[in-house]
Amino acid sequence: MIKTEDKLMMMPGPVEVPHRVLMAMAKPMINHRGKEFSAIYDDCQRISAALFKTAPENISVISGSGTAGMEAAVGCLNSKDDKILAIENGKFGQRFKKLAGKYGTVVPLEFEWGQSVDLGAVEEKLAAGDIKTITMVHNESSTAIRNPAPEIGALAKKYGAYFILDVVSSLGGDDIRVDEWNVDIAVTGSQKCIAAPPGISMVAANERALAEMENVTTRPYYLDLVAYHKSASKELKETPYTPAVSLFFAMQEALKMIEEEGLDKRIERHYLMTKAVRDAVTAIGIDMFPQLNEVSSYSNTVSAMKAPAGISGEDIKKALNKRGVIITGGQDDLKGKIFRIGSMGATTPTNIMTTLSELEQVLYDLGVAEETGAVMGIAGETMAKLYE
Ligand SMILES: Cc1ncc(COP(=O)(O)O)c(C=O)c1O
Repeated sequence: MIKTEDKLMMMPGPVEVPHRVLMAMAKPMINHRGKEFSAIYDDCQRISAALFKTAPENISVISGSGTAGMEAAVGCLNSKDDKILAIENGKFGQRFKKLAGKYGTVVPLEFEWGQSVDLGAVEEKLAAGDIKTITMVHNESSTAIRNPAPEIGALAKKYGAYFILDVVSSLGGDDIRVDEWNVDIAVTGSQKCIAAPPGISMVAANERALAEMENVTTRPYYLDLVAYHKSASKELKETPYTPAVSLFFAMQEALKMIEEEGLDKRIERHYLMTKAVRDAVTAIGIDMFPQLNEVSSYSNTVSAMKAPAGISGEDIKKALNKRGVIITGGQDDLKGKIFRIGSMGATTPTNIMTTLSELEQVLYDLGVAEETGAVMGIAGETMAKLYE
């Protein structure tokens, strides 16, 4: 029987949290309206600005998971009659659509989950007029597709729309360029590529978005980004309400670890680990789930595989979980049809090797793989650079 603490978290978040980050949370409590907290907030803004590629003062750090950041973005920017073009090709695009319905008027643009976003269809909706805001997920974790953020940003600019982008499962593990892509508000979460515990979201909002928020009288109270900005502009930076201080300790430490690794190196590590999963599973006859077009690509941080004929993805997930490797299945209608492996945050090539070899054994036991021993060599070759 495998002990709980020996389990390896290979889900697309929450991920393994490095010991250093866990220990940071054990520090004694501090005054959340004092010098020490201000320095932590400042570190979070400064380091994450380099990940978002925007100015530090644009960033709000919120106590609440990624969805809190999504709600802050949609709710602060839109009023009931504002039209929000909600692009959906997975679970989290759907979440934006649901949020849009709470605060504005939804113009849905739905693609089958796992299909790529069609730019022509987006432009058609924009050309029909009157869209105030576009919402899209950059890295759709439910289907492992990287959606075309720069292209949608260019369309948003052309039609004068605001662009809200979810980078919850890509910031810190993929190349994000908020300013260059014309993203007005970008949202991320702590428990994915940043490798901190769940419970913090960061929202990067530019001046244009912040100015527009002043006109929105129905902004949420707790998630009011205008209030967040005001508090963070004080000489001693603070948050409007009592923050989850221990989680801020963890965020500061996790972001410092990203700084130490170097963003380019970290993105390459994510890329090679995710590619290793793809290379290995396809070599043993498993199909990838995403249907890509010319403007989309495989996720840099998570892989989604089709369950082999006659086998449920849930059975693969459960068998791996029994072996101490925690992966995840499909969500909603995709339950049983796919299984997903994350390669986010502090995940190492060794973790990937372990996961793939256990997966191969599970597939062999289920009668899918004819033999074992193939995946290690393939994944090892793909990730060779990371061992140098
Ligand atoms: C792409 C994406 N967006 C949003 C969320 C929601 O974040 P949270 O669960 O932290 O509220 C997730 C979490 O899985 C996600 O992967």
